[in-house]
Amino acid sequence: MSAERFEKKETIDLRKKYIGPSCKIFFSHDPIKIVRAKGQYMYDEKGQRYLDCINNVAHGKHTCTGIYTQSTLKESSQNSNSIFLFSQMELLNTNSRFLHDNLVLYAQRLQATLPDKLAVCYFVNSGSEANDLALRLARQYTGHRDIITLENAYHGHVSSLIDISPYKFHQLSDTEQNQFVHVASSPDVYRGKHRADHSDPATAYADEVKDIINKAYKKGGKIAAFIAESLQSCGGQVIPPVGYFQQVAQHVREAGGVFIADEVQVGFGRVGSHFWAFQLQGEDFVPDIVTMGKPIGNGHPMSCVVTTKEVAEAFMSSGMEYFNTFGGNPVSCAIGLAVLDVIEKEDLQGNALRVGQYLTSLLEKQKEKHLLIGDIRGRGLFVGVELVRDRLKLTPATAEAQEVIYRLKEQHILLSADGPHRNVLKFKPPMCFTTEDAELVVEKIDVILTVFMILLSPVFILTLFLYNFYVKLLTDENGHSGVLHSKGSRQGSPQQTKQSKRLRT
Ligand SMILES: Cc1ncc(COP(=O)(O)O)c(C=O)c1O
Repeated sequence: MSAERFEKKETIDLRKKYIGPSCKIFFSHDPIKIVRAKGQYMYDEKGQRYLDCINNVAHGKHTCTGIYTQSTLKESSQNSNSIFLFSQMELLNTNSRFLHDNLVLYAQRLQATLPDKLAVCYFVNSGSEANDLALRLARQYTGHRDIITLENAYHGHVSSLIDISPYKFHQLSDTEQNQFVHVASSPDVYRGKHRADHSDPATAYADEVKDIINKAYKKGGKIAAFIAESLQSCGGQVIPPVGYFQQVAQHVREAGGVFIADEVQVGFGRVGSHFWAFQLQGEDFVPDIVTMGKPIGNGHPMSCVVTTKEVAEAFMSSGMEYFNTFGGNPVSCAIGLAVLDVIEKEDLQGNALRVGQYLTSLLEKQKEKHLLIGDIRGRGLFVGVELVRDRLKLTPATAEAQEVIYRLKEQHILLSADGPHRNVLKFKPPMCFTTEDAELVVEKIDVILTVFMILLSPVFILTLFLYNFYVKLLTDENGHSGVLHSKGSRQGSPQQTKQSKRLRT
C-alpha cells in the first residue's frame, strides 16, 4: 500500500472536516505531512528528509529495528525479545486478567532499572492515564486530597490533570484554580524566583513548598502528593537544583503526603548519566510513585505507574478492584521488553550522554558568540536553549525563537520552542542522534542567529534609517520617489513580508 492515500491538500481538508479543531498541529500555517521515518529522520510525501530533534516518543529511533519489523527480526535473531514480540502478535493479545509471562517478565525487567523500594507496577496506556492513576494511589494511601504542583507544569489532558497543569489551566482566563490544587514556583535557577547567584536555591524553593503545606493546613487542607516532572519539559527544560527533591519529599512526607515523579518525557536513559531523571538528584532520593509514558513503547501506546508495596497495599485495601482493558497486554509488554533490549544492546543511554554533552558544548560556544542566547541547560539528550533580548533583564525573545524554528523547518530540521514564554528551543531527539546531527543543527542555528545579529545591529539599523531618510528627502523634493514607489520595492517580496511578520509575532 502506498504511504500516501491523499494529496496533501486533501489530507488537510479532511483533517479540518473530521478532526477536532483544537487538536494541535506543528507549523499550522504549513503543516508537514510525514509518510515514513527511520532512525532520527522523518520523510514527507515528496521524499524530503527532515532531521528530527524533538521526538522523544520514537525514543530509541524511528521504526526501531529490533522492535517492529519482521525483516529485522531475522537479522537480529539473537534478540529473543524481538522474536517474542513478532510471534506474540500472531499468537495472542488479550487483557491482563489471564496469566501471561510477558506481563511479569516486563514488570521484573522494568523494576530492575529502579531503586528496590519502587517494587509494584500498574500498566496503563498513556502518560495521562498513568498520572491520573498516580493521583488515585496517592489519595487512597494518604487519605488526603490536596495536590502541590509546579508553575508551568503539564501532566496530561484528562480533567484531573488539567487541574494540576498550570501550563494549560493558565490559558483559561475564566477558569478558577481547583481549591485542592496548590502551585509552587518552578525551581528554575535561570529565570525563577531564586537564581544561580542564590547561595542555596534548592532550600529556598523547597521552603516555599513547606509554606504552601502550612498555609493549606491552616485552611483545613491536607497534602496527598507533590507532583513534578524530574526535569520540567513544557515548562521550559528546567533542571531543578540538586537537593530540591529530597527536601520537598521530606516536607511532603512529614505532612503525610507522597512524592510523584513524572518521567513521562524524561525517563528511559534520555538524561544519559542515569536511566531515570529523578536519579540526577542523588542516590538518597527515591520518589514514592513514578509515572512513565511516551518512550516506554517507542511509539506504541503504553505506560506504567510504579510505586511502593505500602502504597499498592493501601490501594488494594479500598476493596475496589483495579482493571484496565489494554494495560499490560501481552503485545505491549513484548514491545516494552524489546525497547529495553534495544536501549541496552545499542547503548542508547551512553549515546545520549556522549552526544548530549557534545551538543551542549557546541551550543555553549554559540552562547559566547550570540547575545540572544541567554542560557543553555541540559542533561544528555534533553537540552534547552533559552533566547533572550537582554541578558540582564531576561526579556524573552519569543518571536526570535519562533523564527528560528521556522527557518530550521525550511532547512528540513525539526525543532520546537516551549516554556511559559515559548522562547526555549527544545532538543529531545531520538536517542540514536549522532555528533554529526548535533553539528548540523548547531551550524544552521549559528547562521540564523548571525543573520538576526546583522539585522538587529546598530550599524544596520542606522544604515536603514539613513537610507529611509534619503528616500524620504527624494520623495519630498520630487513629490514622488520614482522607482521606489513601485509596488514590488515598497512592499518587499512576499517572502520578506512573511518573515518580518513572523519576527513580530
Ligand atoms: C510530562 C508529561 N506528563 C504527562 C503527559 C501526558 O501524556 P499523554 O499525552 O501520553 O497522555 C505528557 C504529554 O505530553 C507530558 O509531557
